[in-house]
Amino acid sequence: MIEMNWFLPTGGDSRDVLPGSHSPARAPSHAYLAQVAQACDGLGFDAVLTPCGTGCEDAWVATASLIPLTRRLKFLVAFRPALLTPTLAAQMASSYQRMSDGRLLVNIVTGAEQAELARFGITEDKETRYERTGEFIEVLRGAWSGAPLTQHRKFFDVADATTREVPDPVPPIYFGGASDAAERVAAEHVDVYLTWGEPPAMVKPRLDRMRALAASFGRSLRFGIRFHTITRPTSAAAWQTADDILAGIPPAAIAEARADFANTASVGQRRQAELTGGDLSRLEIYPNVWAGMGLVRGGVGTALVGDYETVADRIIEYHELGFDAFIMSGYPHLEEAYWFGEGVMPILRERGFLPPLDNGPAKVFSFR
Ligand SMILES: Cc1cc2nc3c(=O)[nH]c(=O)nc-3n(C[C@H](O)[C@H](O)[C@H](O)COP(=O)(O)O)c2cc1C
Repeated sequence: MIEMNWFLPTGGDSRDVLPGSHSPARAPSHAYLAQVAQACDGLGFDAVLTPCGTGCEDAWVATASLIPLTRRLKFLVAFRPALLTPTLAAQMASSYQRMSDGRLLVNIVTGAEQAELARFGITEDKETRYERTGEFIEVLRGAWSGAPLTQHRKFFDVADATTREVPDPVPPIYFGGASDAAERVAAEHVDVYLTWGEPPAMVKPRLDRMRALAASFGRSLRFGIRFHTITRPTSAAAWQTADDILAGIPPAAIAEARADFANTASVGQRRQAELTGGDLSRLEIYPNVWAGMGLVRGGVGTALVGDYETVADRIIEYHELGFDAFIMSGYPHLEEAYWFGEGVMPILRERGFLPPLDNGPAKVFSFR
């Protein structure tokens, strides 16, 4: 089975990667986020990922406000371990499980960009931050275990760390990061290792390496991959939408983004930027994998583009490589959730990769 997730645009949304005069930005208001979450709930997505950072609404607050408006959708809440103690994070997650009937998943974000981290008062270098993340997860899991944890270590000195009740279920820990330090933390501590969307030839060796590294700690990992998507009934219509998005990107914005990516402290971000090198003539880096959004967008810059069958086939190809969690998104997130959820997901369901919709096929009134 595939775990199929969508993205909650808590940093705002638009029709284009860069909103312009013909495409106004949509604010991440409560009403709009509720529309996206309710669409995903009805379409049968497992969860929605939130980002974390200065440019978006706080993930705990934003997602908690959507719990009573959704029925079964889970929330993959991103947060930075340098900003709170692991026992407090354990308590927040534990409460979240009781308030939501177990709908929390956590995404632990170590963070890469110094300027962004400095806004929060984080000055440690990346190696140290990853070391902190590893220790943080140990205490977090200890506080969730039901047996109070006492541990005196480099970053955290805790006595009897625990929560009011053991969370049910204990939230699985998702985590992304492509540097060596990130890979070590993932292999030793996390449940689901996330990568940005890269072509199979790039991700396959990483998956093999991560399986071996996790095995050296006596563990195994699940793998997740993050892509945008542009899918329509026909390939021509999907590629036309990709072309329209590209037409909305001014060349100056591409140059500005390239300069910014050249200074990134994130290995994962550098790899995304190198997929095209800013060259507009080689944006389809693998069949149906289009890197146009990454010309200007930080984070994931690749989209699965094509008709419904083709995008479903590509997802199955990545699934066969070893990914069982997918985190998809598209501009705008509401409309694109419907294109994907009503176009691609029924095919994956029919082929046995997704569970049936719990509300079954809809009956629609007709006058005939
Ligand atoms: C799927 C995914 C989601 C991520 N979400 C965020 C995020 O919301 N905020 C953020 O600052 N970094 C985010 N990151 C970045 C990583 O958490 C990590 O900080 C970064 O990749 C570290 O750099 P590295 O690749 O050099 O290890 C994400 C990475 C992945 C793969």
